Amino acid sequence: MKQKDFIALTDYDKETLLELIMRGIEFKKGALAETEPGKALALIFTKVSTRTNVSFQRAIQKLGGTAIYLGAESLQLSRGETIADTARTISRYVDCVMIRTYSHQDVIDFAGAAAVGVINGLTDLLHPCQTLGDVMTITEVKGTDYKNIKVAFVGDGNNVCNSMINAAGIFGFKFIAAVPGGYEPDQEILKTMQEKNRDIKIVSDPFEAVKSADVIYTDVWVSMGDEEEERERKNRFLKYQVNKELLKAAKDDVMVMHCLPAHRGEEITDEVMDGKNSYVFKQAENRMHIQQAILEYLL
Ligand code: CP
Ligand code: NVA
Repeated sequence: MKQKDFIALTDYDKETLLELIMRGIEFKKGALAETEPGKALALIFTKVSTRTNVSFQRAIQKLGGTAIYLGAESLQLSRGETIADTARTISRYVDCVMIRTYSHQDVIDFAGAAAVGVINGLTDLLHPCQTLGDVMTITEVKGTDYKNIKVAFVGDGNNVCNSMINAAGIFGFKFIAAVPGGYEPDQEILKTMQEKNRDIKIVSDPFEAVKSADVIYTDVWVSMGDEEEERERKNRFLKYQVNKELLKAAKDDVMVMHCLPAHRGEEITDEVMDGKNSYVFKQAENRMHIQQAILEYLL
């Protein structure tokens, strides 16, 4: 069924997501004309962003449309206008809305009231645009034989980890996350996806997780909104750094991935981030291409 919004990968079937990935790869090759002339995309941010902001602005421009950046502090939302009234109003001006915010429910509520398509540009729970771009990156390098690809996630069971678990359930790749106790991914997502794919596991030892892995994925130890726990988190995650020793336990051609921004010297060393196995800037670029495909689909 055609979807109005792009809020979670699990709202889509594998076939449609694969089509979006292939379309993203076509956009990357640059052969396509502006397919959405005159369309407007509003971008609402209540958290900061480098990649999501710039890549969405460029994606809509490349399609022939225009972007309107709306920092939350500039909206009447910050003075008590409701999410639903904001959604109804903005729907009268633009053709699509991307939102980055804290509460996942706020994005669902916004989409429920909006007459136009709504894209999740990251919540505390999920980061689906990131993950679909990441599966595009894995596909470019490793192909589509997903059941023979092993992805190891090392660090915090956060929004990026949750979205990767959704992707493992849908695409069928092997997924193993090494997280310290108390920092596990969302249990409902985990249970639901483990019912679809038995090769989704959570362990505590990073060396066990990365054994013969094709991909090692990491993310910051302190996500946006977790700043008060910074000191405690940095202590708990010390053993979860992606460094040269950890890489030795994976395949020689392992892809090192990170959604960025990175905190160099914490979850990843300079040596690994700048090394031959690193795909982190390819991932960042692919955000733009996959979001062209997502925007085209919704518009
Ligand atoms: N990966 C990602 O979403 O980066 P930004 O926070 O810079 O948008
Ligand atoms: N987990 C990180 C991802 C940033 C793109 C955060 O939520 O801050």
